[in-house]
Amino acid sequence: MLKNLFATHSIDAMPQPGGGEPAQGPHGEATLKRALSARHLVLLGVGAIIGAGIFVITGQAAAQHAGPAIVLSFVLAGIACALAALCYAEFAAMIPVSGSAYSYSYATLGEYVAWFVGWSLVLEYLFTVATVAAGWSGYFNKLLLLISGWIGHDVSLPAALAAAPFEVVEGHIRATGMLINLPAVAIIAAITGLCYVGITQSAFVNSIIVAIKVTVILLFIAFAAKYVNPDNWHPFIPVNEGGSKYGWGGVGRAAAIVFFSYIGFDAVSTAAAEAKNPQRDMPIGIMGSLIFCTILYIIVAAILTGIADFRLLNTPEPVATALDSYPQLRWLQAIVVVGAVTGLSSVILVMMMGQPRIFYSMARDGLIPAVFGRIHKKFRTPHVGTVVVGVLAAVLGGMFNIGVLGEMVAMGTLLAFATVCIGVLVLRYTRPELPRAFRVRLPWLVCPLGALACMALFLMSFIEHWRWMLAWIAIGQVIYFGYGYTHSKLRKQTT
Ligand code: ALA
Repeated sequence: MLKNLFATHSIDAMPQPGGGEPAQGPHGEATLKRALSARHLVLLGVGAIIGAGIFVITGQAAAQHAGPAIVLSFVLAGIACALAALCYAEFAAMIPVSGSAYSYSYATLGEYVAWFVGWSLVLEYLFTVATVAAGWSGYFNKLLLLISGWIGHDVSLPAALAAAPFEVVEGHIRATGMLINLPAVAIIAAITGLCYVGITQSAFVNSIIVAIKVTVILLFIAFAAKYVNPDNWHPFIPVNEGGSKYGWGGVGRAAAIVFFSYIGFDAVSTAAAEAKNPQRDMPIGIMGSLIFCTILYIIVAAILTGIADFRLLNTPEPVATALDSYPQLRWLQAIVVVGAVTGLSSVILVMMMGQPRIFYSMARDGLIPAVFGRIHKKFRTPHVGTVVVGVLAAVLGGMFNIGVLGEMVAMGTLLAFATVCIGVLVLRYTRPELPRAFRVRLPWLVCPLGALACMALFLMSFIEHWRWMLAWIAIGQVIYFGYGYTHSKLRKQTT
């Protein structure tokens, strides 16, 4: 049984190693469409990365944990991500399939680990869609309020239709008295429709959204920078007030929280099968988007804590809040709200594209039902998986106020990142001869460091939320041993 559990997928048996998807399957069935250039891939990365993390979480983590030293938290989380991104780049260029970390684990560490990673990726992708949709709804409601003020007519939604009926407080689910978070459901439904009809259309809409949100962030940097008061940065690391409130402990805790802001560069790898030239362009897409966003994040975090006392930033829209004390920047505040509403939608879009593609790879391996592996004849998208993911995300996003699940997202992602770092090193020893278009330098240093950094961040969240994480892992075990283990195609070939 152990041998079965750790059997690895042969890399040569993966669809067209090095070349992306073939135009047709062996029986003439539709396959994913190779349509994406390096520019599309960088934009997909930026589209997935910049979102609730910078618009919401940064201010809150500064107020609760790190103070102005939130900048250091961004540097720490950025280093962990950079190490993981190098490893993703090596794999994505070498094995350009849509399963991302799941497929890389299958090829290196075996089926059981692959399932574990695939199941963790559900936390990352599906729950990010739901979490960010809930954050989107907050900014959307704020926008409706602003519009009501401008036109002198109330166009805002009744509160009961604009917030989730359940929330998670200290590990328990409680009713909030609201009915449904309708904006969250609506944005997920709209984006599901877009993902259903095509990768080209999705990438095009993503490019427009990215242009808008990056412009908004650059405007914030250009105009708010003039109002930075260096006094707000003193003391840079506020004295610890107990637990992880400030001090170095707070900086570390905030690093685990703002890690969420970086999630998304890895989503580029789920589009590998649809890249025109994955060997050259995957590393560009993954590393390019991460470097660009890291620079933006560090600058925004410094300005945010420079224009306002960090203690004031614990609000649902901290970037807009920081501008509150500057009446001359009211116009910028409105633009930031529009930028957030637009910007968060591309995170939902790219993560919504990623999840069905991971399911597609898992279905092709037999670990989940084959219906998830079906490709639409005309649109060449994994349409069934897209609809299922859309429905699940809409239920989660519409019903739950899922603050704690933001950290679940981060934990699932960190597990996947750590596994990818280990996988790169393992494959260097087990298959040294494989052609690698992009190679991690000093792998014996970068890979263990990357895995350790990710596990350190994981532990910081796990200590607080271990019950939820263990429950998630347990559900995954039941599904694997109840379905995947017996339906695995690899097992059928080898037994
Ligand atoms: N990095 C993405 C965000 O911040 C998930 O919304």
